[in-house]
Amino acid sequence: MGATLTEKLLSEHCAGGELEPGETIDVEIDQVLLQDVLGPLVWIEFEALEFDEVEPDVAVTYADHQVYQFDGDDTATHKYLRTVSQRYGGHFSKPGNGICHQVHRERFIEPGATLLGSDSHSTTMGGFGALGIGAGGLDVALAMGGEPYTLNVPEVVEVHLIGELDGWASAKDVILELLRRLSVKGGVGSVFEFTGPGVVSLSVPERCTIANMTTELGATSALFPSDTRTRQHLRRLGREDAFRELSPDDDATYEERIEVDLSAIEPLIAEPSMPDNVVPVSEVAGTPVDQCIVGTCTNGSYFDVATVANIVDGAEVASETDFVVAPASKRSIEILAREGRTEALYAAGVNLSESTCGACIGQGHVPAPESVSLRAFNRNFKGRSGNPDDSVYLASPEVVAASAITGEIVDPRDLDRDPPAVSLPDDMTRTDAEIVGPNHRADVYRGETIGTVPLKPRLPSEVRGPALTKAGDNVTTDHIVPASAEVMSVWSDPQACADYTLTRIDEDFPEKARAADGGWVVAGENYGQGSSRENAALELAVLGVDGVIAKDFARIHFANLVNFGVLPLTFADDTAYERIEEGDDLSIAGDVADLVRGGAEQITVRVNDDWTFEASVHLTDAERATLVAGGKLSQLKREQ
Ligand code: F3S
Repeated sequence: MGATLTEKLLSEHCAGGELEPGETIDVEIDQVLLQDVLGPLVWIEFEALEFDEVEPDVAVTYADHQVYQFDGDDTATHKYLRTVSQRYGGHFSKPGNGICHQVHRERFIEPGATLLGSDSHSTTMGGFGALGIGAGGLDVALAMGGEPYTLNVPEVVEVHLIGELDGWASAKDVILELLRRLSVKGGVGSVFEFTGPGVVSLSVPERCTIANMTTELGATSALFPSDTRTRQHLRRLGREDAFRELSPDDDATYEERIEVDLSAIEPLIAEPSMPDNVVPVSEVAGTPVDQCIVGTCTNGSYFDVATVANIVDGAEVASETDFVVAPASKRSIEILAREGRTEALYAAGVNLSESTCGACIGQGHVPAPESVSLRAFNRNFKGRSGNPDDSVYLASPEVVAASAITGEIVDPRDLDRDPPAVSLPDDMTRTDAEIVGPNHRADVYRGETIGTVPLKPRLPSEVRGPALTKAGDNVTTDHIVPASAEVMSVWSDPQACADYTLTRIDEDFPEKARAADGGWVVAGENYGQGSSRENAALELAVLGVDGVIAKDFARIHFANLVNFGVLPLTFADDTAYERIEEGDDLSIAGDVADLVRGGAEQITVRVNDDWTFEASVHLTDAERATLVAGGKLSQLKREQ
């Protein structure tokens, strides 16, 4: 029986375990990617674990998220990140050089590599035939120290592409189509492998857009083959020697097969406020737009911005609409300038912004109250823009640019013009001036923004406490620890950051948790979806929360809860979720530490000593040992 590409790469990198569904496998990591809001904790943990040197071939920390503050906290954090990277043998990409996934794919990623990133959109690397996985910071810190990453063996889903994109349809519409069909939970536990004759019609930047947003499906990773187009793209980047041909076997078998006819794809749009609220653009055409933005790790590539420049060339942005374009890397800006395309953008009235994450996480360009923002981004979770009451739509750069000109959401097929035809330039090379290399003699600079990660005690025998809050479905890590400028400035100081935990759902949560010195978060489906930020779990530990009982969990967040010793339980029967009320007293019947250690798959929870329900414990043996030890850092420190 033939192997999928996922199986081939996992077998090549297997350091232990079994490549069988339901099992776990230890994966050797070739490359590590960090960014500046989750990266500081990773480095704090790396240092706490007393590693001497970064072990993977490549470990790069990008200053991309947190560059718009004016009180010096951001630059102090960047100085820590630069010096700690240099000291231990990593690279540091300066602020303004670009967004981690964009710069990494231009400069470092290689077909066939495994990459672990402290950012959920690490799946982007699948566009190059590399297995990029987003993970919690502690797992990334361990990978930096040379430890393999333990992965639940994923199901491999084949997305068989036929036909070619036609007219105004784009790669963004392909992934929106998958979100429309499968929902934000449709990819949980899976790697999406793209196969079929349609693959070769997609350029590498288009493949990266699709792979990037498989994260919105909840997928573990995504993979395109590495083929002639990959080789050609690496040649443009001046890195052809990194090429390696990779494809699944012809007789590979997949868990599931999804067929997508690219020629039948039409322009799509995600309505507020979930990436899977997808409808044809024609359904919402005519909606006035106050703000349009193109950028991010999804749609900020040279290809995307050149497409925008082509559409606005000779036109003007509508007078009632702001149009911001933020190319995702300095390399893109340089090439756009070389080709005279920036001129077209400026002449049309575009606000050309820095190469940062910026508006994607509410840092700048926050939409005004009661306004409509149309963005070529990957997420539109309520409040992520920085306005808690926002109304954000997601679409392709083509739809956003066309709408910026008309001042209302428009199906570009209704415009009296041909779709843009953008080809990539032969030379997309650039110097490494903004990437700082290793320097083992560097003194590590620690400003006030750099805190410490507390060690949790072992899991006690008795766990009892109130249901501190009861949340609904699809709680995102943004809800748990917001990515606003104010909160991000304390992300690397867990004690200070705890004051903001879950306040977007319940503003008294930190106070209640501290007063109760224990207790539970109760939640519905898909708890912890979205970003990989580990402080969404760490802060619960800092506040003394015992556990989360949810209908189910997003993958990375579940792992983060285990890593920080917060018990993740699922309702065996969802009717118990309906009955529980905030403030109810929840206690576990029996010795919890013994139950978890002993492999119990269900435990009984008493509610107000009045009624009980069963909660499921979906944990591997290693995860059980970690939880009993009070989390991974406590476990490893005790073993040292
Ligand atoms: Fe940055 Fe937004 Fe991507 S925060 S890494 S541009 S999802």
